[in-house]
Amino acid sequence: MHDNPSHPDSHEKRPETPEEISRRRFFRDLSLAVGGCAALGMGAPVVGFILSPLLRKEPRAWRTVGKLDDFKIGDTVDVRYEDASPETWSGVTAHTAAWLRRESKDTFIAFSINCTHLGCPVRWLPQARLFMCPCHGGVFYENGDVAAGPPERPLVRYPVRIENGEVQIETEPIPIVTI
Ligand code: FES
Repeated sequence: MHDNPSHPDSHEKRPETPEEISRRRFFRDLSLAVGGCAALGMGAPVVGFILSPLLRKEPRAWRTVGKLDDFKIGDTVDVRYEDASPETWSGVTAHTAAWLRRESKDTFIAFSINCTHLGCPVRWLPQARLFMCPCHGGVFYENGDVAAGPPERPLVRYPVRIENGEVQIETEPIPIVTI
């Protein structure tokens, strides 16, 4: 009935002019860019929250664990000290420990108390001269190397220094292995 394309009831579309095509593309690109920026703005804090523990540099600190004369040459003893970054709410969980051995008049060696398998505290058996992990049977030689069980890495060692007659250990984050 209405064959004339200019008639208002006509369903036939008029082809777009090059100007209309480029304007439509411009607005499409603009809305994509605005949408992308909005998504980035909303997503960045979430991504930052997830990645921040990976990117944060773990704090370290020297902690005094006793006087030089408190330690007998050849003995391996557990020493306790406060974490490098205790939170105000951490309570007793801020306390950590290490195994410390006096090797000579002025040299010490310190091992992390945490097993390198899944982090359980290891025990020192003086008669056997071995560190034993009660969780899955991990065993370490007196130098920290793996003797048996699931751990694949030796016990982590901490730097030790003597300052003004006091023995100090440099703290480190708990060496938990990611599987
Ligand atoms: Fe020590 Fe598994 S945590 S053997």
